Amino acid sequence: MDTVLSGIRSTGNLHLGNYYGALRNFIKMQNENKCYFFIADLHSLTTHPDPAMLHENVKNVLVDYLAAGIDPEKSVIYVQSDVPEVAELYLYLNMHVYMGELAKTSSFKDKARKQPENVNAGLLTYPSLMAADILMHNADKVPVGKDQEQHLEMTRRFARRFNNFYKVDYFKEPVAYNFGQELVKIPGLDGSGKMGKSEGNCIFLSDSAKEIKKKVMRALTDSGPTEPNSVKPDYIENLFTIMRVVSTDEVVDHYEEKWNSCEIRYGDMKKQLAEDIINVTTPIRERILELEKNDDYLRKVVTEGADRARENAKKTIADVREIMGFKSF
Ligand code: TYM
Repeated sequence: MDTVLSGIRSTGNLHLGNYYGALRNFIKMQNENKCYFFIADLHSLTTHPDPAMLHENVKNVLVDYLAAGIDPEKSVIYVQSDVPEVAELYLYLNMHVYMGELAKTSSFKDKARKQPENVNAGLLTYPSLMAADILMHNADKVPVGKDQEQHLEMTRRFARRFNNFYKVDYFKEPVAYNFGQELVKIPGLDGSGKMGKSEGNCIFLSDSAKEIKKKVMRALTDSGPTEPNSVKPDYIENLFTIMRVVSTDEVVDHYEEKWNSCEIRYGDMKKQLAEDIINVTTPIRERILELEKNDDYLRKVVTEGADRARENAKKTIADVREIMGFKSF
């Protein structure tokens, strides 16, 4: 039985990218594996330290997780900051992680460009914190989208380095996972490469049908192809990419054919796309509306989750301290 772990930053509601990149894969793995899913509220501090919103954001993400199908009977669901051992492991790992390699990370360079007024040390050491999350439970598989591939590569390197340095075979090397397929990147509807909270181009699992229709109908298109079988511009390819995850093969094939024969009507395609997205999100949205009223249940889920996650975390920390040479007097 493999250990599977994944997490999502608590910087806002979950969107289709989170769902197809991480959540849906995780949900499919719940029955056969030992599964951990957590809300990365410590990670959210690197970009959004807002005391007025912190708790609300954690709650929103928790509700979205449960509504999407993460089952607390099968998986351990916890809030990252409820497990202080994570911060301790982060500190230990940081002693074997170097400035140069952190400064070269794509996500760091990207964030440093986006928030030049707040290039904090937490942003730089983000990959060490992520490695602490994963290594804490010695995860084998980490369901994530394409954007997290580099972080997983770094986690493997840190694990290897720790093992080599202390001459142990303690940490496993985890892999980024998408059900045996390529990792996915769900694009935005604005023609940009990636759907993302900070890009402001998301379809949220909690959006109403009306909002989804509005967002999809507004997506960038053009007057259509003039040459048969031509290459699609990025903003059109993006619509097809989303269609490939939400629609049936027949629907995708139909619009591919229409594109190839220069007969495509974007209005029809968008209507179909909106409908297929709504089919995926409606049951989730209905559960969100139910769950967000049920504070007692939410409290029970995260309290039990934290207890179960900490059981494992305490053991890892005890082992790591022993390996590193800490001894009690
Ligand atoms: P975050 O919160 O940005 O995104 C959560 C998950 O959603 C995936 N994702 C996408 N996948 C495909 N297409 C997209 N447009 C898209 N946008 C987001 C991400 O790949 C991710 O899997 N560093 C992580 C959170 C984290 C974590 C961890 C994940 C912290 N520690 C340990 C796994 C294991 C992050 O910022 O994800």
